[in-house]
Amino acid sequence: MGLPKLQIALDNDVLSEALYSITQVGDEVDVIEAGTILCLAEGMEAVRCLRALYPDKIILADTKCADAGGTVAKNCALAGANWMTVICCATIPTMKAALKEVQDLQVELYGDWTFAEAETWMEAGLVQVVYHQSRDALFAGETWSEVDLNKIRQLVAMGFKVSVTGGLEMETLRLFAGIDVYAFIAGRGIRDVANPRQAAREFKAEIKRIWG
Ligand code: 5RP
Repeated sequence: MGLPKLQIALDNDVLSEALYSITQVGDEVDVIEAGTILCLAEGMEAVRCLRALYPDKIILADTKCADAGGTVAKNCALAGANWMTVICCATIPTMKAALKEVQDLQVELYGDWTFAEAETWMEAGLVQVVYHQSRDALFAGETWSEVDLNKIRQLVAMGFKVSVTGGLEMETLRLFAGIDVYAFIAGRGIRDVANPRQAAREFKAEIKRIWG
């Protein structure tokens, strides 16, 4: 079982705030995500700025792309992204077209996806999925359950690199002990606390304590 990566999600509303956030924690994390909210608000300029600041980091554009996969992925790659996301209901041709343009693609799992569909993603060459507790579901009071953990275990058993996200806090990580999680994706739990650098370090230390 590998050491899970730590990915910071920059879901800031404006680029200047995202840049402020990343200068505090960029050196502490493994993957930098231009969040969906940031991409929608500021476009690929956000990715260009992050790439300029962090030439050697993995940068993910969280486009949650549903269509025009090749074009969107090409724009992400030209801006400097290594990875991007597609939504799980995108068609296989959309996913394949996107995968040709970026180094890797993450399928974002929302709603009523099935393991039969997951087999088709695997056959199409997609190996990364993101198991997501949606922000709106969390606001509605849902939380991580044994059902979620079992689905994550099943995806890992199928051979996927599974990242998990959605309102993660340092205390949440222990729920996933014993599961071969590829990356923990945290946004507000790091960005919005009084000392984001310390929070990122505590996330890393907790990951090492549990998986190291
Ligand atoms: C929202 C996302 C977020 O990037 C992800 O959920 C992490 O953010 P947070 O930790 O603040 O929930 O993909 O669509």
